Amino acid sequence: MQIPALQAVTVEILVDNFFDVFEPSRPGIVERVVPGRLKKPLVAAHGLAYLITLNHQGKLSRILMDAANSPLPLFNNLEALEHDVNDIDAVVLSHGHPDHYGGLFEFLAKRTAPPIPVYLHEDVFFPKILVTPKGRIGPWVLDLNQLMAAGVELHQNQGPQLALDQVLLTGTVEATTDYEKPLPSFRRKVGDQEEQDLFPDEQALVAVVEGRGLVVIGGCSHPGIVNMVKYAQKLTGIQPVSLVLGGFHLTPHGDAMIQDTIKGLKEINPELIIAGHCTGFRALTKLAIAFPDNFMVSCVGTKVMVVGG
Ligand SMILES: [Fe+2]
Ligand SMILES: [Fe+2]
Repeated sequence: MQIPALQAVTVEILVDNFFDVFEPSRPGIVERVVPGRLKKPLVAAHGLAYLITLNHQGKLSRILMDAANSPLPLFNNLEALEHDVNDIDAVVLSHGHPDHYGGLFEFLAKRTAPPIPVYLHEDVFFPKILVTPKGRIGPWVLDLNQLMAAGVELHQNQGPQLALDQVLLTGTVEATTDYEKPLPSFRRKVGDQEEQDLFPDEQALVAVVEGRGLVVIGGCSHPGIVNMVKYAQKLTGIQPVSLVLGGFHLTPHGDAMIQDTIKGLKEINPELIIAGHCTGFRALTKLAIAFPDNFMVSCVGTKVMVVGG
């Protein structure tokens, strides 16, 4: 699939699970915030929101990928980082879990700019359920009617599609590894039937940066981050990967899958891997050891820049 090569992609971590003032920067590549210089303190929360800025021939477009778990961290951090909701050109939803759309309706309500394109997989609307040792949670439902009533320009997909004619959304991820299996604790309701959620609704956002290769951004990466990157390579026909970023949802799967994922990522050999959100502390520490030179932790306020060359 042909997608335009961009001159640069910047991802600002608006909401994530972590903040650590001691995490280092890499000048020109990964810039951390200086808390004392912010308008107000940042809030970390179990949710995800990225502000992705695309530079296409000098024209900048901004995508909000996911909308956190609630309006509180989303708006607090937008304000702290001095962003205006009307400056955002599109929304992409990674998948239908509420820690990724919890602030979406308030975000849409706050805007005064014309209807915004919202890109999502059509399966995000199935009610989602989580079975935990402490009982069942959910169902959570993202309401299609409520979304339509918010006056958005809705783009639903199943397979690959472009967002803003500039980045690729993979659609349902093709599973090619034998070790990345969704956990049975994730369920969804289709009509009256409840079934295991295999996450056909989760998709990666993929950008191509001139001379640098792919930028692959995942939400929770329930289909497996290696599957997602391999599928992005297959769809674009481009092998080099400059950045893999996302929640990798690894710790609850256990050490064997963490080690297999590390092996898979080593084969892909991205220039930089940045993980946060649902990756889990145990998996983050193992990734940090496995990739001493090219792994970093995602923290709120971090800006990651991939510049063409
Ligand atoms: Fe999540
Ligand atoms: Fe999720």
